[in-house]
Amino acid sequence: MLPVLEDYMRLGQGALSLTNLGRFLIPEEKFVLMDKFYSLVRQEVERHRQSFDPTDIRDFIDLYIKVTREGQDPEIYTEWNVFRIIVDLYMAGTDTTANTFRWSLVHMVNHPDVQKGVQQEIDQVIGQGRVAKMEDKARMPFTEATILEVFRMSTVVPFGIAHATSETTILDGYTIPKDTVVLGHFYRVFHDKNNFEEPYKFKPERWLDGDGKVIKSDKMVPFSIGPRVCLGKGLAEMESFIFFTTLLQNFTFKVPEGENPPSEVEGLNTSTFAPYDYRVRAVRR
Ligand code: HEM
Repeated sequence: MLPVLEDYMRLGQGALSLTNLGRFLIPEEKFVLMDKFYSLVRQEVERHRQSFDPTDIRDFIDLYIKVTREGQDPEIYTEWNVFRIIVDLYMAGTDTTANTFRWSLVHMVNHPDVQKGVQQEIDQVIGQGRVAKMEDKARMPFTEATILEVFRMSTVVPFGIAHATSETTILDGYTIPKDTVVLGHFYRVFHDKNNFEEPYKFKPERWLDGDGKVIKSDKMVPFSIGPRVCLGKGLAEMESFIFFTTLLQNFTFKVPEGENPPSEVEGLNTSTFAPYDYRVRAVRR
């Protein structure tokens, strides 16, 4: 399922796919991949239905089938909705997280000093004898600052998801009529020099105050804001911390000899913002 989704996400016209013109510009192959992905999800749901045992709930799909069969809120728990939820979680939750890791390695190989700083903090707080846990984060400000800087500099969801105005709204003197499609331009906010000095430079230290504590900023909203904020924010924050620290606890990442470091700024702007393909050497610590 994941390779199909990966190919799907990488095809398209970036921001244009979010406009009405998108339907004419999106390559046919994208629709074919989408159908393939839908069909794989349908097969998985069907496989769960066939082997369903109410005394052995194996995962989310089983739980959903159980609630559906018990007849709770039949208008909400429909067969169609379980399919839709799985599709949404996969589409929103895989490429975003994967690209965050891809970008973090891009920055690490470009900034060996930052990588070393994170590894020193890992060695002091976690050591080599155990795996990272979320409670460690509060004692690892430099690591947290580095992850924030990855989120800022490499905005994996540059435009968020399309919304619409439910009523005519005046914003900064501009009238936005009811039913207008509205996109939040997070990339612009994170790369505006009025918000972040030298926005195209990777500087984790910008997130630390004089006491070495992490600075909170209301300009830093990679998961959007408001009632439709990213549903997976908590999970994604957890994954970024645990995966990133585990990778750097075990490996040092380097540019392969004779190759140039991958670009920290240029990337592939499709459904999400991804770095161009690159190679790294993972050296066991
Ligand atoms: C680095 C990782 C991630 C980033 C940067 C990210 C960012 C975002 C953003 C900007 C939105 C748009 C919110 C809006 O409409 O204003 C969004 C929506 C959403 N995200 Fe994430 N996301 C990430 C990971 C995840 C994960 C791991 C999941 C679930 C497993 C997830 C599930 C969703 C869902 C379901 C929505 C739609 C929410 C709604 O419309 O109510 N995301 N995400």
